[in-house]
Amino acid sequence: MSRSRKVGIVGAGNVGSSVAFILAMNGHCHEIVLRDNKPGIARGKALDMCQAAAAGRSHSIVTVADNPEDLKDCDIIVITAGSPRKPGMSRDDLLLINAKIMREVCIDIKKYSPNAIVIIVTNPLDAMTYVAYKTLGFSRSRVIGMAGILDSARMSSFIQEKLGYGGGQIRASVMGGHGDDMVPLPRYSTIAGVPLADLLDESTIESIVERTKQAGAEIVSHLQTGSAYYAPAKSVAIMVEAILRDTKQIHPCAVTLKGEYNYSDIVNGVPVKLGAHGAEEIIEVTLNSCEKKMLKTSMESVQSLLDTLESKNFFAEGA
Ligand code: LAC
Repeated sequence: MSRSRKVGIVGAGNVGSSVAFILAMNGHCHEIVLRDNKPGIARGKALDMCQAAAAGRSHSIVTVADNPEDLKDCDIIVITAGSPRKPGMSRDDLLLINAKIMREVCIDIKKYSPNAIVIIVTNPLDAMTYVAYKTLGFSRSRVIGMAGILDSARMSSFIQEKLGYGGGQIRASVMGGHGDDMVPLPRYSTIAGVPLADLLDESTIESIVERTKQAGAEIVSHLQTGSAYYAPAKSVAIMVEAILRDTKQIHPCAVTLKGEYNYSDIVNGVPVKLGAHGAEEIIEVTLNSCEKKMLKTSMESVQSLLDTLESKNFFAEGA
């Protein structure tokens, strides 16, 4: 990892700008570059954040990429660009619109930041990560989707709400795709090391699992005009900082599988070791037959999106 610690963010909407703000406040990057198709929005937010960084005694600067080439030589690029989810709209409705945006963005990244590690946030997350992986042609360790950290955090917050204690000590585990078929794993969820099942009854755990699967939609239904951004942004920032600081800690992320869990050439959420080289290792968790079945359903729903793209000749058009 070069010492410039330059992080590009494509899409300065709610998620992208919240990521930039967290990074600017934490001061782990030297430069955060915002790119948006509304340049005034990017510029206004960048100035505001530079001033927030000055107030917070952070050395980070926030700049604007007016052109794709201004994103050159980034260590990490976060892609949030895309059409957001609207009420009543599934993540999958966004498929083709966002696949085309993703491809355009990735063509520029390949040209101007060929050594970057790319973090995908655009929905439908797993399919978009696959599109990015195919377009970029980077090793899979450098094309990583954010979602498992978010879904696990949501599950943790619902566990805390039911328990009424344990905040900050809850480690919830969610694998699978970032969709209605995600795979929350209560069996691997703990509170200060105490298994969840020792503290909550089965039906309460089941209600937490169901709420976790619908957590994004729950927020969309309240906001009406968009989807969640604070928790998604915090989750991205955790990934960026794990990579910049080479922590080699395990986080659930979406990556292209090559035989792990017996799946290949498909993206899904699995625990990975995050470090300076990106998703440096994929961890294979032992799953029981029920969990394996849930993972299979999740894989199938991601595969059906990729099949839809395939049927529209999206991949044949090439990058
Ligand atoms: C969510 C959207 C961003 O889960 O997918 O909030």
